[in-house]
Amino acid sequence: MANIVVLTGAGISAESGLKTFRDLGGLWETHSVEDLASPAGFRKNPQLVLDFYNLRRKQALEAQPNAAHLALAELEKKHHVQIITQNVDDLHERAGSSKVLHLHGELRKVRSTQDASLIYDIDEIDPENLEIHVGCTCEKGSQLRPHIVWFGEMVPEIEKAAELCRTADFFLVVGTSLMVFPAAALIHEVPAATRKCIIDPNLPDVSGIPNLYTIQEKATAGVPRLVEKLLG
Ligand code: OAD
Repeated sequence: MANIVVLTGAGISAESGLKTFRDLGGLWETHSVEDLASPAGFRKNPQLVLDFYNLRRKQALEAQPNAAHLALAELEKKHHVQIITQNVDDLHERAGSSKVLHLHGELRKVRSTQDASLIYDIDEIDPENLEIHVGCTCEKGSQLRPHIVWFGEMVPEIEKAAELCRTADFFLVVGTSLMVFPAAALIHEVPAATRKCIIDPNLPDVSGIPNLYTIQEKATAGVPRLVEKLLG
């Protein structure tokens, strides 16, 4: 039983119908990162930001796990599998993966703007529409916001993620442009002797990383095939 650590990004959910960020037609091509994913944007127009995440939450909850998410869950039959995801959807969990660390937060959750430890599942706030609006407050009376890491904010789980990477016997990266730090630097935490693999139809620049091989394919093709080998 190997200790397999998998770093995923928006590309693994692309074939479930969720847009990536930096591909042609990706979210940040048509939307302003500053306005929609930063503390300053939230101060400027909170309802615009809440509407953006209300819509993305709906899309994510309507989406279904694809063959890549399902294959990674299947891999637990034989190996210890830790997923570290930059994604804010819950498709890994719904596919059946039991150990999922969300680096950039979760769409299903919202939290207090005053006390970051007050985190709620959206079902507790608005079970019918799964939305928050200006005026929705936490139990201490302050505005709720998405439980999402915005640009310019700390990534609270990064140390835990780095520690997990240091213990990997095999490191797999799926569907991330490796352009957003600190997540993009996690691959450098993996021991030099550990085998690493990247699956992406448009491979990110990974020159200089030892023991790395690449599979230039979409997630639903490349991941199930690799998993089959790892289970074999
Ligand atoms: P990007 O949009 O930057 O990169 C998506 C990656 O997925 C690219 O390398 C694509 O080639 C690849 N890809 C596209 N379709 C694929 C498919 N079918 N199968 C496999 N790979 C595919 O998304 P991320 O790297 O996840 O943060 O972006 C990182 C962070 O930037 C996100 O978590 C988000 C964003 O701003 C926040 O919002 C905080």
